[in-house]
Amino acid sequence: MKNIMVTGGAGFIGSAFVRQMVKQHPEFTIVVFDKMTYAGNMDNLLPVKDAANFRFEQGDIADREAVHHTFETHGIDTVVNFAAETHVDRSILSPDAFIFSNVVGMNILLETAHKRGVERFVHVSTDEVYGDIEGDHFSVEDDSFKPNSPYSASKAGGELLVRAYHVTYGMNTVVTRGSNTYGPYQYPEKLVPFFVTEALEDRPLPVYGDGKQIRDWLHVEDHAGGVAAALMHGQAGQAYNIAGEHLRHNIEVTYRILKLLGKPETLIKHVPDREGHDRRYAMRCDKLKALGWKPQYDFEHGLEMTVDWYRNNAWWWRKIKTGEYLEYYKRQYAARLAAAQQA
Ligand code: TYD
Repeated sequence: MKNIMVTGGAGFIGSAFVRQMVKQHPEFTIVVFDKMTYAGNMDNLLPVKDAANFRFEQGDIADREAVHHTFETHGIDTVVNFAAETHVDRSILSPDAFIFSNVVGMNILLETAHKRGVERFVHVSTDEVYGDIEGDHFSVEDDSFKPNSPYSASKAGGELLVRAYHVTYGMNTVVTRGSNTYGPYQYPEKLVPFFVTEALEDRPLPVYGDGKQIRDWLHVEDHAGGVAAALMHGQAGQAYNIAGEHLRHNIEVTYRILKLLGKPETLIKHVPDREGHDRRYAMRCDKLKALGWKPQYDFEHGLEMTVDWYRNNAWWWRKIKTGEYLEYYKRQYAARLAAAQQA
């Protein structure tokens, strides 16, 4: 392992992984390959852009030529795939892009990697493939897939292709399944950065339904460290859950954000629920712990640091909250907030 291609490396979790790897592993060359969709952002890579072991190529995993070219140019022997469409609400509004990147693109990346004889292929997936987890069950890696949104169905499809390439072609693959991730540089459409940046501007926080949905919160540095552990020590053909081990109701997270910012609870607006909304995600991650990883961040402290980061880095998110972002905001929230207003 020498030249590692990190697809989706300009996104939220991918860039955290890149920042860690570039600094901690000067013996590897880290080649970011990113389509630079709305979620890809060069600002996420500013801390490493001048490092001697960092390279960048713009490209789409669904573009065979571009993938092949990057493999050849940089002598790629390892792939870590973060590239994906990731936002559930966008997948409900328009599923096509999700199938295109997360399934079709996945196959093109896998096939090109297989043909080139890539030594190791790590694929970053999600706890959402397990679907809604009832009662007090915690998902383990052998549990069945029951995805409920176009997003999670597309991630499950992509993961099944990774499995097939391992079984059929003997590819050296490893899959990770992370839980809800938070931290600096997260596109402000996901719960934490969306609510923090909206509250900073005294705007309403649209909580879906009763807000009693449960998520497991994982700090992005812990997520990146988990992917690195799976890359270095994971067994070929295996999947590893990466859990934060901090289950919280959405409404608790919302109250906490408001408290940290000193903003009033009157900003909370209960709006019509997301369609097909999973109530609870929860996972065990003993398998990854056996490789020597464990989450380092306590949620309360991690959230406090994250809130401070958005407060101190308005330059980063203010330029995102324009253009396409505002179009999306209108499509996703205008009718919901109007309905809440009437109720
Ligand atoms: P999100 O960050 O979209 O992640 P995921 O859907 O992958 O879990 O949402 C986290 C939780 O917060 C989820 O239960 C939906 C809820 N949520 C809201 O209540 N309001 C919002 O505006 C958003 C974006 C999410």
